[in-house]
Amino acid sequence: MTENYKKIKQIYEGKAKKLYTLKGHKDLLLQEFKDDATAFNALKKGKILNKGIINCELTTFLFTYLRKKGVRNHFVKQVSANEMIIDRLKIVPIEVVVRNIAAGSLLKKTNFKEGHQLAKPIVEFYYKDDSLGDPMISDSHALAMKIATEKDLKTLKQMAENINTILKPFFLKRGLKLVDFKLEFGKDKTGRIMLGDEITPDTCRLWDKKTNKKLDKDRFRFDLGGVNEAYAEVRKRILGK
Ligand SMILES: Nc1ncnc2c1ncn2[C@@H]1O[C@H](COP(=O)(O)OP(=O)(O)OP(=O)(O)O)[C@@H](O)[C@H]1O
Ligand SMILES: [Mg+2]
Repeated sequence: MTENYKKIKQIYEGKAKKLYTLKGHKDLLLQEFKDDATAFNALKKGKILNKGIINCELTTFLFTYLRKKGVRNHFVKQVSANEMIIDRLKIVPIEVVVRNIAAGSLLKKTNFKEGHQLAKPIVEFYYKDDSLGDPMISDSHALAMKIATEKDLKTLKQMAENINTILKPFFLKRGLKLVDFKLEFGKDKTGRIMLGDEITPDTCRLWDKKTNKKLDKDRFRFDLGGVNEAYAEVRKRILGK
């Protein structure tokens, strides 16, 4: 039986997505993916061709794959080209970043050169607060701010590492190096932590296995050209279309 999902009200418009409540489903939301792209805390703005559709399809595919591998996540069902139903979560205001290869802001915190293969994946926490510019925080900052418990932090780290272990070979088989990525987690109505948000070329650094060509949002961030083509290429490699 096909369920009927009727949007009631937009409750949030972010930089990449919109969230709506649904008639008769108080524990679910509809997540709409936009073509809008931003970088550097929204100082740079633009659009990427078909990004809404590509990111919705990729998130659908990856969250379905992760669920099969036992990763609890918010994905329920894709309902249009760029819309999906998700479990409503209370988002933990911590962005969890996992790194396999040195790139981006890690180059400012260490002496690693871009492309350096890390001896062991690095997991970092960032406080989700636009007014502060999402600063990196330690476990003690999170505990002092009471944004997560010791147990929550352990779960976030374990889930992030597990997701990395699953996705690294997945991307590599498709000719892509998973350089680093950002995850968001939240609690469902029973208080269990699950993966939320999205996994897309907006939130992952993906490099071509052979040439190290960047196939992600860095092309937009740094005006490297071929932005639309990079998103289309990732779509083709993952979804075959
Ligand atoms: N399952 C969920 N339940 C409730 N909120 C969610 C869920 N998954 C993701 N979100 C939140 O929905 C919003 C998605 O919008 P978007 O990614 O465009 O936000 P953003 O501009 O990156 O802003 P920010 O992440 O700083 O809020 C984010 O705030 C994200 O934390
Ligand atoms: Mg976001």
